[in-house]
Amino acid sequence: MRKPIFAANWKMNNLSGDVVEFFKVLGDSTLHLNDREIIVAPSFPYLKMSVKNSEDKNIIIAAQDVYPEAEGAFTGMVGGEMLNDLGVGAVVVGHSERRHVFGESLELIRKKVKFTQENNWKLIFCVGETLQERETGHLFEVIKEQIYTAFDQNLWCENEMAVVAYEPVWAIGTGVVASPEQAQEMHLFIRKIMKERYDREETRILYGGSVKPDNIKGLMDCEDIDGALVGGASLKADSFKKLFLYDR
Ligand code: 13P
Repeated sequence: MRKPIFAANWKMNNLSGDVVEFFKVLGDSTLHLNDREIIVAPSFPYLKMSVKNSEDKNIIIAAQDVYPEAEGAFTGMVGGEMLNDLGVGAVVVGHSERRHVFGESLELIRKKVKFTQENNWKLIFCVGETLQERETGHLFEVIKEQIYTAFDQNLWCENEMAVVAYEPVWAIGTGVVASPEQAQEMHLFIRKIMKERYDREETRILYGGSVKPDNIKGLMDCEDIDGALVGGASLKADSFKKLFLYDR
């Protein structure tokens, strides 16, 4: 049984007032949700207040990134000891904005994956192809490379602690959601890799990219889609609630 996950990735949005409002409006809607997991990833300056404001709400607060060292001379970075001190329970690694806007290499992503596993934070590992990669028929090899380079054969951690998010780059923030068929096809492909290379068939695989209240059901109805990683539609609690409480 793969428990669905609904994860909010706020990216570089939401200030203090928005954070307070978000958790206030969520109220106790997440408190007794034992058949799904709720994760919220605010930006670094708001981690502490998000942890505090989500206390007793049955929510995991995630960091959007981590620098893979405990502490030290790394100007501008946020490392392991800091995330532990802040009370973070999960980390997003490999987001396409990190890969493409900030030029993160496969090697750096691999280090972050390993570091996240070593620190026992839940890992939300993102993969996704660009439009050009899809249109030229390279989509499957791109996703396979992103996974293979991030994890050695024996490096995949327990199902509970590692989650893959398939986020086609062309669907992120564009309003162009992948069709349930396109998403399902890739999720099945990823599940096969999880099974054959890592013996982790039950790994949860989330879809991300223009998920909205009006398309969540079609996606969640797909056999291999185990939840959503949501940007724009997760910034306000009302809209995020409509996602994790969607009409099944
Ligand atoms: P949008 O939901 O805004 O398309 O963003 C998706 C995403 O990148 C979540 O990580």
